[in-house]
Amino acid sequence: MELQLAGKTALVVASSQGLGKAIAQQLVLEGVNVMITSRNEEKLKEVEQELRSLHKGNVAYVQADVTKQEDIERLVEKTVETYGTIDLLVNNAGGPPAGTFETITDEEWYKAFELNLLSYVRIIRTALPYLKRNGGKIVNIASSSIKEPIPGLLLSNTFRTGIVGLTKTLATEFAQYNILINTVAPGRIATERVAFLDQINAEKFGITKEEMEARMKSTIPLGRYGTPEEFAKVVTFLLSGANSYMTGQSFIVDGGMVKAI
Ligand SMILES: NC(=O)c1ccc[n+]([C@@H]2O[C@H](COP(=O)([O-])OP(=O)(O)OC[C@H]3O[C@@H](n4cnc5c(N)ncnc54)[C@H](OP(=O)(O)O)[C@@H]3O)[C@@H](O)[C@H]2O)c1
Repeated sequence: MELQLAGKTALVVASSQGLGKAIAQQLVLEGVNVMITSRNEEKLKEVEQELRSLHKGNVAYVQADVTKQEDIERLVEKTVETYGTIDLLVNNAGGPPAGTFETITDEEWYKAFELNLLSYVRIIRTALPYLKRNGGKIVNIASSSIKEPIPGLLLSNTFRTGIVGLTKTLATEFAQYNILINTVAPGRIATERVAFLDQINAEKFGITKEEMEARMKSTIPLGRYGTPEEFAKVVTFLLSGANSYMTGQSFIVDGGMVKAI
């Protein structure tokens, strides 16, 4: 199967570590020119070097906070200045804090909205003129909470499902431009974020992080966490020329963890 990705240009948001970085890496390996971005310039420099050492697609970075519209404008401008256009867009961000209904403040609600939903809207809007040029692909990263709410992660449960509604609606609106847009939702993929959540939950239950991890893995039919690379390969397929007919869909990469149909 030909992925037909070589020479394309991708903007991969929130890509200094974890899922975003793994997606950037897979795309670089396919010969894509990739713009990586996050708030931390030091980490971005390191990832840029690491991905450049693969000697495949080009890599550049822009430091940006996706909760700020001016940063998003600068990010898109720099990407187009560097590579000429944007063919592929991956929306991603850090996770919102844990909390239950009675503990979450209005400020936390607003912040999670800005980070986990509004940033996707703003980035798509800003990149749209370029994605429209040749027909583009968008992947929005969400969470398995789009199918089965996760206890203690109310902010994620609320705003990730918003991503699904956004994706499905835009699939219809953007079909006229031959832009395909899908949601990809991780279950438990071994990243810094998951290690952090395991630590929080371990403290809550008064057990060790290792015990918490074993407890979590026992709920996954495949019996292990996914690797960032496994997750990134699904995203890469959806962004590729091999995907020419799937749009508006949600794909869960979870080793069978989610029990809902
Ligand atoms: N891993 C999983 O199994 C899993 C499961 C369900 C949901 N998710 C969700 O999927 C997303 C990615 O997961 P992950 O595990 O890769 O998370 P991660 O390891 O915490 O990485 C998050 C990335 O987002 C960047 N970021 C955070 N806030 C940002 C901001 N305001 N502006 C720009 N960049 C920002 C971080 O870089 P800087 O700190 O340098 O800005 C980092 O590169 C998260 O939203 C997570 O909650 C992951």
